[in-house]
Amino acid sequence: MIPRAILFVCLGNICRSPVAQGTFQSLLIKHQGGQIAKKWLIDSAGTSDYHKNESPDPRSQESTAYHGIDISNQRSRQIELKDFEKFDFIFVMDSSNYKNVIKLTDNSLYQKKVHFFLDSSFPNENRQVPDPYFGGKEGFENVFQMLNKASEDWIERWKQEERV
Ligand code: 4NP
Repeated sequence: MIPRAILFVCLGNICRSPVAQGTFQSLLIKHQGGQIAKKWLIDSAGTSDYHKNESPDPRSQESTAYHGIDISNQRSRQIELKDFEKFDFIFVMDSSNYKNVIKLTDNSLYQKKVHFFLDSSFPNENRQVPDPYFGGKEGFENVFQMLNKASEDWIERWKQEERV
């Protein structure tokens, strides 16, 4: 697969997008091997700066660790204008993230880079990844499963596109 630059975005950058970054990176290594995966740029950010420089939420770390993925080195940051230039795909988790990201720029080429991450699994349905922050542990496992499936589906889609 062609190396791509991908940014995952949620509100706080401590629950959903760090898990998306971790699971996507791990699947990429599984499918492509470490050397090729290193050519991809995978990062995450929040629309807010509420949790600037914080580690992922302990419940996100626990649920990914349960699946063999270590996200403890990630630190929260807020999305910035230069991210629209740097990244090919900006994947948002829900419609509030979508609105907040789109309103950062009037450039339609940049706006076209913004997609709902679950679109690979449910095209054109604008399905949401629920915010697990105020809920219990099971919400984090649910989010992990959704993000893992969506990561698999994007990787599969890109593989197919490059074969035709
Ligand atoms: P995230 O979850 O957007 O998936 O990182 C949240 C984290 C923190 C808050 C809201 C959502 N908060 O209000 O502080």
